[in-house]
Amino acid sequence: MFESVQYARRRQKLRQQFSSGLLLISGNAHASMNYPHNNYPFRQDSSFSYFFGLNQPYLVGVIDIDGGLDLLFGDDPTIEEVVWTGQQPSLVALAASVGVVAPHTTLADAAYAVVKPSHALHAVIAEARSNGRTIHYLPPYRGESTLMLAGLFGCTPEQVDAGASPGLIAAIIGLREIKEPEEIAEMERALVITKEMHIAAMQQSRPGVFEYQVVGTIEGIMRGYDLHGAYPVIFTRHGEILHSRDHTQQLAAGDLVVNDSGVSSALGYASDITRTIPVGGKFSPRQRAVYEIVLSAQMCAIAAIRPGVSYLALHRLAALEIVNGLSALGLFKGDPQEVVDSGAYAICFPHGLGHQIGLDVHDMEGLGETAVGYDVTVTRSDLFGLRNLRMAKPLLAGMVVTVEPGIYFIPELIKRWMTNGDKGLHADLINYDRFVEYMDFGGIRIEDNVLVTLTGSRVLGPAIPKTCEEVEAVMAM
Ligand code: GLY
Ligand code: MN
Ligand code: MN
Repeated sequence: MFESVQYARRRQKLRQQFSSGLLLISGNAHASMNYPHNNYPFRQDSSFSYFFGLNQPYLVGVIDIDGGLDLLFGDDPTIEEVVWTGQQPSLVALAASVGVVAPHTTLADAAYAVVKPSHALHAVIAEARSNGRTIHYLPPYRGESTLMLAGLFGCTPEQVDAGASPGLIAAIIGLREIKEPEEIAEMERALVITKEMHIAAMQQSRPGVFEYQVVGTIEGIMRGYDLHGAYPVIFTRHGEILHSRDHTQQLAAGDLVVNDSGVSSALGYASDITRTIPVGGKFSPRQRAVYEIVLSAQMCAIAAIRPGVSYLALHRLAALEIVNGLSALGLFKGDPQEVVDSGAYAICFPHGLGHQIGLDVHDMEGLGETAVGYDVTVTRSDLFGLRNLRMAKPLLAGMVVTVEPGIYFIPELIKRWMTNGDKGLHADLINYDRFVEYMDFGGIRIEDNVLVTLTGSRVLGPAIPKTCEEVEAVMAM
């Protein structure tokens, strides 16, 4: 955990943005796998973690604006629970460790004032509602939270989302998207481990090895630090399947493998790194040519990062670089800018350039993807591909974003577009004869995590082999 004052300061900054009411920030419950007592590894809600720091399940934080108090609702374990899970720190001690103490009181008094049993939440909310106070809450993304909120607010589960507070969502995004120095340091700790994962994967990606064996190595490294993935590992010789979960294939010389894997740090901060690996240790000339285009698109987008630049502009810049490169290889024709503007480029780059990253790998998307990635200056496109852009708004110093362009040859997509109408979709801009020649190519993605600084940007973490030469050199070791 960070220092207790850091959590208190964050709650204070949040509180300052409201003139009255209650802010309800619920932690997560355990999630069951296949019967009630067989749980997935516990993952705390990220906004609860940001403001209340504690990594225990079944806690709820309430910031009382008018009363000037932060409250924590939860229960000390019963002796029955202690028997099965061991002694835990008291809730009062846990609350104090994140600065939840009543002002001007001793710790014992504070317990009385600000730490309350779970069952008391209903009465506190009911009283506030009967007094006409506004109670702000966040949109839930788990069934248990939806049911809890429905119970507290006397509505149906279907009505819960509509009652979430746009004001609280916006205030939390405004705070969480500007990373504190301690958060950056934690993200860089995650990236040191991520480098180890990626190098091990490069070195193990030899012909004859199965994908799941490399995934086992990647996950073993994370578990060796008592950590888990920030998201399910993507490790596939079918890199053209953007988020493939399949790990059953055997690697063969000449394959390109996309490794998109990142860890969730001890404090719950994500890394999200992608490298593309040539099985056998050497890129073929054809692979190298496409790889260099993706790399150039990534570097050029990173070089353009600075406060005030919209992420949409970065996406378009990367897309233009991809189109320029692929035009030289004969895959696109006509004016490259028109290929970008028309959306024709999405035949091989159908996802967005990236997203914010922090406690969540797609940071704060539980609060709403559009709420996080768009503001009044940008509206979401309805073009195929571009509509998947999760982040579009102008950058601010202190944000951390991923930059992850890719080129993919997706046979089903190429065939679908090629047979659209007489000549195919965007036939004046896409050279389908050439695309057909690349249908067995697979995909390439390169992804880094980048801090927006006052004057530009900094790629976070230690350098992870990225150029063709660097990747080949580490595979030769
Ligand atoms: N790892 C998921 C993504 O890159 O967005
Ligand atoms: Mn990724
Ligand atoms: Mn990503």
